[in-house]
Amino acid sequence: MTSEAAIAVTGLRKSYGDHLVLDGIDLDVTTGTIFSLLGPNGAGKTTAVQILSTLIGADAGDVRVAGHDLAREPDAVRAAIGVTGQFSAVDNLLTGEENLILMADLHHLGKREGRRKTAELLERFDLADAARKPATTYSGGMRRRLDLAMGLVGDPAIVFLDEPTTGLDPRARHTMWQIVRDLVAGGVTIFLTTQYLDEADELADRIAVLDQGRLVAEGTPEQLKRRVPGGHLRLRFADARGLESATQTLGHATGDDDALTLKVPSDGSLRSLKALLDRLDDESIEVEELTVHTPDLDDVFFALTGHPTADEEKVTVR
Ligand SMILES: Nc1ncnc2c1ncn2[C@@H]1O[C@H](COP(=O)(O)OP(=O)(O)OP(=O)(O)O)[C@@H](O)[C@H]1O
Ligand SMILES: [Mg+2]
Repeated sequence: MTSEAAIAVTGLRKSYGDHLVLDGIDLDVTTGTIFSLLGPNGAGKTTAVQILSTLIGADAGDVRVAGHDLAREPDAVRAAIGVTGQFSAVDNLLTGEENLILMADLHHLGKREGRRKTAELLERFDLADAARKPATTYSGGMRRRLDLAMGLVGDPAIVFLDEPTTGLDPRARHTMWQIVRDLVAGGVTIFLTTQYLDEADELADRIAVLDQGRLVAEGTPEQLKRRVPGGHLRLRFADARGLESATQTLGHATGDDDALTLKVPSDGSLRSLKALLDRLDDESIEVEELTVHTPDLDDVFFALTGHPTADEEKVTVR
């Protein structure tokens, strides 16, 4: 591939009936980087992945993937990409090995090459011991690894990962993050969707924030976080008097009289925590409870859109 962007999208639109799901999206993903599409439930992440990976059609927009026009050369696009969907493609009745061999057959790798590729992927994703067991017996983390391995059978240049770590425990998440980093080190371009700011921050070279079908921000993690107010401390007091004295003592703080809590901007560092508690101690103000709050998706959304992540009441049926 040349220096052309791995993925270039302009004016992408998609509606289901009168529900506008993607409302004119533009994005560019540089070859060999990790791009993260960050958004809450129902933002349109899966829809975007499905369109970019040729699974469903768009209503409008120009899309080039791996140098090919999506509408005119879908087969060339398919040959260049691997997709790991939000909902697993693993066949539960088959073993891990059989699932991979099935993918190798779909890619016409030939028997010998298919076996070689399968063995390599099982080893690489730490699934060799479980290779002969049915996928039903796999843990969530193992299943995700198998699912991803299946997406890599064709040696794709671009890999789409739709919420690869949702539902995984912290250790399995870190394993998945390392796998993603290794892929990029090997020259692969990653398009990753996530609901987690920390995941996008950890992995992505660039992040685009999707809100109700529109991109509300795009940039490096640093640029994005600069637009989001830092973390804060939440202090809870036993009574209104405590809250009042603390409000006077601390200045820059927002109080909630009903909950008897005070929100104080803070970087969450031990030093600032100690300084704050010392000041309260000097005034003999007692704190019932203290929680440290680091910026999360809600903070990003509030900062960028002026509203919290939409709590969608509707249920997605597929
Ligand atoms: N096949 C479909 N028919 C009708 N509406 C759909 C269809 N697929 C998705 N939608 C709607 O499009 C919107 C975006 O859905 P999408 O699955 O792309 O969101 P998402 O960002 O992936 O959310 P999540 O984090 O829950 O996976 C939702 O309101 C959803 O109900
Ligand atoms: Mg989704």
